[in-house]
Amino acid sequence: MKEIKWVNNTMPKSDDKELAVMSLEAVAKARRFHESFPQYAMTPLAKLDHMAEFLGLGSLYCKDESWRFGLNAFKVLGGSFAMARYIAKETGRDVEQLPYEVLTSDELREAFGQATFFTATDGNHGRGVAWAANKLRQKAVVFMPKGSTQTRLENIRKENATATIEDMNYDDCVRLAAEHAAKTPRGVVIQDTAWEGYEEIPSWIMQGYGTMASEADEQLHADGCQRPTHIFIQAGVGSLAGAIQGYFANRYPENPPKVVVVEAAEAACLYKGAAAGDGKIRIVDGDMPTIQAGLACGEPNTISWEILKNHVSVFAACPDWVSAKGMRVLGAPFKGDPQVISGESGAVPMGLLFSIMTMPELSELKNDLGLDETSRVLLFSTEGDTDPIRYKDIVWYGKNYD
Ligand SMILES: Cc1ncc(COP(=O)(O)O)c(C=O)c1O
Repeated sequence: MKEIKWVNNTMPKSDDKELAVMSLEAVAKARRFHESFPQYAMTPLAKLDHMAEFLGLGSLYCKDESWRFGLNAFKVLGGSFAMARYIAKETGRDVEQLPYEVLTSDELREAFGQATFFTATDGNHGRGVAWAANKLRQKAVVFMPKGSTQTRLENIRKENATATIEDMNYDDCVRLAAEHAAKTPRGVVIQDTAWEGYEEIPSWIMQGYGTMASEADEQLHADGCQRPTHIFIQAGVGSLAGAIQGYFANRYPENPPKVVVVEAAEAACLYKGAAAGDGKIRIVDGDMPTIQAGLACGEPNTISWEILKNHVSVFAACPDWVSAKGMRVLGAPFKGDPQVISGESGAVPMGLLFSIMTMPELSELKNDLGLDETSRVLLFSTEGDTDPIRYKDIVWYGKNYD
């Protein structure tokens, strides 16, 4: 069995100026925007009491994003908010003036005109961008990396987007999207990662993800939990992890939860940077063969990296069996605990937590994190069965990826 690797964060701290991206005000704005959608409903926060007891934890909560807008993943939160903020800026308004009803109106369509939104995706982000563009009667062009599944491609095409699977990895698809946008009149890149010179749109995307964090926080309070003590969050480029870490660092500045960033071993660029220890970004390139498709990204988001290196406790790199284990554990809960249908990129935090609490070889990590019967752990299952064939292979037929 391949090993789980992990490293405590000992990187030098920076001035932390990117933390302001995830200010509580910015997130509240994003949440009000999402609440204006007719499809909006808070996604469930599954409370896994029996699992918490079994693992020796105080409580365990899992935010179930398979219910988000009927799209089976959280990603639409980012793309939709960034597109709204872009349109607001172009038409000289504040995004508060563009709730769903106005955004989809003929009047705004006339004021903004026709643009083409370009993006690269493993599936979920592109589906969110295509969905939002479709609602706004705008064009979307989506590039997918080698190895993307047909189901994910078809789900994007169903939203009237032009979508193709390219013979290159995710990071090269991002460059391809940027090249095409530059050649297209009113071409706009809506990419879920930042690099030097491309920061505004990704920072809006991260704020959009904040809706999920703010809902979870409210749901924890409603359950009598004053704050989580630990959060496990999965990462590809790290936009999501930066958003979640950023929100909770701003929300609980006095006693922030310990955050564990969880990556696919084949694409563990953040772990690699943390292990190098100097605070600089590291890249993973080439093919990244992993079932954790949403996490198969080798080039970190530059804004997120700043937030993560200043606040995260542990970075972990997980082989695919960890994700498969998480999918089974969430899909077949103890009697009385709610079921969470969680896909390959959604379940890896559960797989890691389960492994830490049950495998003696990970006891050092368990001690470092101080995970015990007083801990209140929050996980995010960021997608449902977005690849239904593989989901059944793993959960029903026991495929293991050892
Ligand atoms: C389901 C799912 N979870 C997590 C992530 C990771 O997000 P990020 O690339 O921002 O780290 C993705 C990215 O596509 C995803 O699709």
